Amino acid sequence: MSNFVRVASILDLKPGENKVVEVNGEQVGLFNVDGEFYAISNTCAHRGGPLGEGYLEGDIVTCPWHGWRFNVKTGNNAIMPGVRVPSYQVKVEGSDVFVSID
Ligand code: FES
Repeated sequence: MSNFVRVASILDLKPGENKVVEVNGEQVGLFNVDGEFYAISNTCAHRGGPLGEGYLEGDIVTCPWHGWRFNVKTGNNAIMPGVRVPSYQVKVEGSDVFVSID
């Protein structure tokens, strides 16, 4: 069963913004793409850079360390098939954003 944890208010992130949140001790990147919220692992599949601190353009985040790019809706690397980071379930209830990493 999914164990959702409140991580933010919808007011915390405008469309096009992102940040790092914590879910059960795990760091997760949270992204607002055109008003929809998405969550992927904060740990880049290259060398562990913080994806939640990356540059978001559309649904693609660019890792701040060496520029690998990931789709925040799927966790898939935007260039290299088969390279991905975990993506997580997100739900919004009222003004609260919840993420499950189960
Ligand atoms: S750690 Fe993300 S691109 Fe290198």
